[in-house]
Amino acid sequence: MRLKRFRSLGIITLGVFIASCAAGIDDTGLEYAPQMYHSTPYEPLTQIVQEDAGSWLDSNEADEHGEFYNSNPYNTHAMNMREPVANTVRRGEPLPVRLTVDDLEVAAATLMSPLDSADLDVLKKGKALYTSYCKHCHGEKGNADGLVAEKYAGVANLNGAAYLEISEGHIFHVITYGKGLMGAHGSQISSDDRWRIARYVKELQNNN
Ligand code: HEC
Repeated sequence: MRLKRFRSLGIITLGVFIASCAAGIDDTGLEYAPQMYHSTPYEPLTQIVQEDAGSWLDSNEADEHGEFYNSNPYNTHAMNMREPVANTVRRGEPLPVRLTVDDLEVAAATLMSPLDSADLDVLKKGKALYTSYCKHCHGEKGNADGLVAEKYAGVANLNGAAYLEISEGHIFHVITYGKGLMGAHGSQISSDDRWRIARYVKELQNNN
């Protein structure tokens, strides 16, 4: 008699256990102590906007929302996490210098390379980058004899007298925003890589 009672108790426990394992995309299954799963503070990544979600479990007396409701009514679209303001800069990134294509003179006079001038790796990488991004127009040594320059006139000869004195900041700005016939490369080449190229162009000019 005793054994039988235990057996039926066992079957019922097992049944509840198995039933609580059933879960679908929209159904988390049976939750034991749901207050432990559903955060009262705003959850940025698991926002639940349906006001009555989980009302069958418990209704919050203060705002009459369901147990699972988790949205911030004070933000637009009741978002829990707001988008960063435009022009937000990632932690650790240098603040962008706000110049436009017309500010070449300012850039040439004020922008300084953040890279170590004694670092030979800068030149090595600068050469590789120059070969990828500049050589087809300006030529291997900067003499405006690249394959594109053979077809199209107007490519600047970087070893011409007019360019020998230009600063790294000047070159950086031209790479970033382009100038005249030359297109901007700012969106394709990272800021540090643009400085590496600028250093390499000066090196080309000095060894010409
Ligand atoms: C599609 C061809 C092309 C590519 C690629 C190109 N340039 Fe130019 N570059 C030009 C032309 C054309 C000019 C002349 C622009 C003008 O005065 O109208 C020029 C001008 C320049 C000048 C002189 C700017 C001045 O103050 O007059 C520099 C410096 C320069 N380029 C550097 C570079 C560097 C560095 C790269 C590689 C990141 C590069 N260019 C890629 C075509 C190109």
